[in-house]
Amino acid sequence: MTHILAIDQGTTSTRAMLFDDSFSVAASAQAEFAQHFPQSGWVEHDASDLWSTTAATCRAAIEKAGTDAAGIAAIGITNQRETTVVWDRRTGKPVYNAIVWQDRRTSEMCRRLKAEGFEDVVTEKTGLLLDPYFSATKLAWILENVDGVRARAEAGELAFGTVDSWLVWRLTGGKVHATDVTNAARTMLYDIRAQCWCDEICERLGIPMDMLPEVRDCDAHFGEARADLFGRPIPILGIAGDQQAATIGQACFTPGMVKSTYGTGCFALLNTGDTPVMSQNRLLTTIAYRIGGETTYALEGSIFVAGAVVQWLRDGLEIIRNAAETQPLAHRADATQELVLVPAFTGLGAPYWNADCRGAIYGLTRNSGPREFARAALESVGYQTRDLIEAMQADWEAARGTVRMETLRVDGGMSASDWAMQFLSDILDQPVERPKVLETTAMGAAWLAGQKAGVLPDREAFAARWQKDADFTPAMPEPDRARKYAAWKRAIEATITFAG
Ligand code: G3P
Repeated sequence: MTHILAIDQGTTSTRAMLFDDSFSVAASAQAEFAQHFPQSGWVEHDASDLWSTTAATCRAAIEKAGTDAAGIAAIGITNQRETTVVWDRRTGKPVYNAIVWQDRRTSEMCRRLKAEGFEDVVTEKTGLLLDPYFSATKLAWILENVDGVRARAEAGELAFGTVDSWLVWRLTGGKVHATDVTNAARTMLYDIRAQCWCDEICERLGIPMDMLPEVRDCDAHFGEARADLFGRPIPILGIAGDQQAATIGQACFTPGMVKSTYGTGCFALLNTGDTPVMSQNRLLTTIAYRIGGETTYALEGSIFVAGAVVQWLRDGLEIIRNAAETQPLAHRADATQELVLVPAFTGLGAPYWNADCRGAIYGLTRNSGPREFARAALESVGYQTRDLIEAMQADWEAARGTVRMETLRVDGGMSASDWAMQFLSDILDQPVERPKVLETTAMGAAWLAGQKAGVLPDREAFAARWQKDADFTPAMPEPDRARKYAAWKRAIEATITFAG
């Protein structure tokens, strides 16, 4: 039996999964690692934790499957995107902790660059907005604030990479400094049309270009994992950022197809085909994948709090013990109360992009309790998704004439809640499909590497295998939908006004 090893290096944990050649998961292993919050708004990971959990979970999964490196045809990597690592090329030692995508320490830098009119250049070249979310200002911060780093970088001693790049460096024993095009597209340093690093942005941010990795296709050869790690060398044949890997895993290969992943946050991607669609509605234009040299673009909507709102019910309010309790509570909520929760705990992402907002709840009465809070929490995820989908629909129509986007394919932890998915379909007035295999992110990475190795089927056959486990169709009467969504919009406006 031939296996593919998928590494999914996420924000809170690292997972390794072994898929067999019929796409079944033969074994998996997972390890959490420490989150560091040195100051308010700062989020860091120890880059060596990202590596050690990767090596350990890979070994554990291989052992559990009862196989060895000889039975593994290839490795595919998928990862938390934007998170920034800088290391010494000679020693392999990181010069600072990894600065995580959620980190807001460069807000002021972004504000200054925007005031100088630089956002237009950024959007034109990279398809992104000038926001601390992306790697570029995090890298500039390390160069400016960590002792001696600028001089070492200018002397060519240091390498920059997103997490995929860091893992490739470690897996190959420092032989390969490369990334894939989807991760490059999230750095805010990559020209997504010309498909090369953008010298104008690098110069403006003071980033020496020889720190940057070589950019390859998602299904390129990224070197071989060292023989001493797993017993013999294994080729690394696929890389994609986690949201792009989920787009692939959901087989969203046709323009107009859209997927939405519900983890800590929610990331929706619409396949826009071979030309980038520039958003008029503050979505991001990005690369969905580049396979065999052919680029497919996407529009992306990112919201920072989805599953995290359920964690807040559990850890902040302590009204549930586990996520599964939310659904029965929401079921029993009082229909006459219409609480609206805006979970802007760390600001608002797309399409509002307001870093100063904080969460708010509207419509409280003496009878409001855990049930109504649970329902409002689940509904907030549906409302936020509708904001994204409406923005996408508008951009898509502007680009392609009047076209209706296809069904929404969902995945991620929260998609397991039937209640939340039914509400999503109701508020969108659109069908929602949930796949049988919810491991879409790891599956996307495994497929990239497996098809390159010739042990998994081609794109068409892979897409034909996609199967749904459930679909949800809109059942809410239109007046209810209109009333509820209008209330959400008012709540958003009030929350933004309150932030000043
Ligand atoms: O853009 C950030 C995203 O890639 C993080 O995903 O699933 O690790 O929270 P996740």
